[in-house]
Amino acid sequence: MGTYAIAVLAGDGIGPEVTEEAVRVLGAVARRYGHVFNTIEALVGVAAIDAEGDAISDATMELCQESDAILFGAVGGAPRYEGPNAKIQPERALFRLRKELALYANLRPIRPFDALLNASTLKTDILRGTDLLVVRELTGGIYYGKPSEIRETAEGLDAIDTLIYTEAEIERIVRTAFDLARERRKKVTSVDKANVLSSSRLWRRTADRVAGEYPDVTLEHLLVDSCAMHLIRRPASFDVIVTENMFGDILTDEASMLAGSMGMLPSASLGTRRTEFGLFGLYEPIHGSAPDIAGQEKANPIAAILSLALMLRFSFNLKQEADAVEKAVKGIVEAGYRTEDLREEGKVIVGTKEMGRLIAEAVAG
Ligand code: IPM
Ligand code: MG
Repeated sequence: MGTYAIAVLAGDGIGPEVTEEAVRVLGAVARRYGHVFNTIEALVGVAAIDAEGDAISDATMELCQESDAILFGAVGGAPRYEGPNAKIQPERALFRLRKELALYANLRPIRPFDALLNASTLKTDILRGTDLLVVRELTGGIYYGKPSEIRETAEGLDAIDTLIYTEAEIERIVRTAFDLARERRKKVTSVDKANVLSSSRLWRRTADRVAGEYPDVTLEHLLVDSCAMHLIRRPASFDVIVTENMFGDILTDEASMLAGSMGMLPSASLGTRRTEFGLFGLYEPIHGSAPDIAGQEKANPIAAILSLALMLRFSFNLKQEADAVEKAVKGIVEAGYRTEDLREEGKVIVGTKEMGRLIAEAVAG
């Protein structure tokens, strides 16, 4: 029994739809196990720019600081806030949350359900046995390096982005990966572009040094282009993949296809801060706001619901409850229910709300 404070930032596009279903499932967990979850909603993204003048207000940042965990939907996708001339980008909400809350470790587990092996674009034989965890560095690299701008020069416009990593930033994320690998199959694949980038050479050197402290864990290095290929050639051979911010962003969209759809993949963003219950964290589906399907009952809420399960596990140490949510999702998928993104012959296609309701009901037992 406990009382947990959760900041709920649903955001834009399909963000509110999928988040609502995760909150519905949270309600079922509360009833079944007798917990009290205090959810407090606030605006982020386009909605916040329109109503509060910024992608995330200081008041919302404070609310997040004071909560035990954050449930995040998606931001972006409004044409009027896109493009090089947009003054405030909705994505700023995410970047500010990640950086200011020091959530440097983004965990993206990819474990395709057997029932969905056919839904993937890849062959079942290749997929079988896939169970990998991408540990993406989230508060450094080219996402944050300065300068980053379009500039006027005598020869016309140019543009610059800066890719910088400190040894300390690399070391802490590599350590996270090794610690997690110890709880799994004891293999870390460190992904870089050391044949081209200095930041990658420091990355590789640091990974090698940290590996010395984990003699029980195997370390493999892969160049990012090669990793992109091996992910769809031998996905089952990976255990923990650790990589820098932008490589992790790209590789996880690719890897999501192993699970059949982007709509299946949750994530947890963690730092070192602890609350009385567990690690403080932000939980969000890896997919975006998908404005093209918003409001049509087509969005898959499973990524958001599995993100909730990660919250129960990491931030609240509620293992039994997290297992119950994951089991419920698996059961509903095995029973043949699918959202539009996983349309397949002979399966029952349901809307976003119905999918959420079915899973909540399964959790309620
Ligand atoms: C992700 C997303 C974000 C990122 C976007 C929305 C800025 O693609 O979380 O993977 O690139 O980090
Ligand atoms: Mg991404």
